[in-house]
Amino acid sequence: MTTPVTLDTPRLRLRPWQQSDYRPFARLNADHEVMRFFPATLSSVESDTLANTLQDNLEKNGWGIWALELKSTEAFIGFTGIQCKQGMSFSPCVEIGWRLAKEYWRQGFATEAARQALTFAFSHLQLTEVVAFTTVTNLPSRGVMEKLQMHNTGRNFQHPALPIGHKFREHVLYNIEHAQWHNHQ
Ligand SMILES: CC(C)(COP(=O)(O)OP(=O)(O)OC[C@H]1O[C@@H](n2cnc3c(N)ncnc32)[C@H](O)[C@@H]1OP(=O)(O)O)[C@@H](O)C(=O)NCCC(=O)NCCS
Repeated sequence: MTTPVTLDTPRLRLRPWQQSDYRPFARLNADHEVMRFFPATLSSVESDTLANTLQDNLEKNGWGIWALELKSTEAFIGFTGIQCKQGMSFSPCVEIGWRLAKEYWRQGFATEAARQALTFAFSHLQLTEVVAFTTVTNLPSRGVMEKLQMHNTGRNFQHPALPIGHKFREHVLYNIEHAQWHNHQ
């Protein structure tokens, strides 16, 4: 067990998960619009299990997928963070990801939180590379990757967790390397 790191940005706090996050997280995961690029929405049991897993990983490593809090109101607004990803053709790798409740979209929050997570990944963990991937048609998520100046590798792949022929199976793969990140700062 490690005490999880908390990261601050001007407007946001990336922090460990707490009990009060579970209900808004379940609402977000049950929202068809938030989950429109995923195979299905999550039940509240599935959502709670996911929050428990994310918190367990934070406690194990000290870092991971953090709960995202809006500092001005202390509202839980979603998650952003980095995690080791196994089972992909490009594994081992560390991926960065994000999911926000829709009332908080288009205000630069995902990008702001992800920038801080990348700074942590490269400056503190000294990672050499961070990747991001999403289904080809998820333009909002690709927009965050591009805003972060991540690079589209052009190495599209079929997500192994989705059945052959599934409309979301083809994914884009973006990456950013340590040196590129520092050059952009
Ligand atoms: C993807 C997501 C986290 C983006 O969050 P956000 O806080 O709205 O993103 P930002 O405001 O930082 O936007 C960054 C850029 O992404 C692009 N973008 C964001 N939302 C977009 C949309 N709906 N349509 C097109 N481009 C979009 C824009 O280029 C934007 O920059 P701009 O606002 O200066 O034009 C949010 O849409 C979400 O939670 N979606 C559902 C969950 C999901 O699909 N997660 C990713 C799974 S891989």
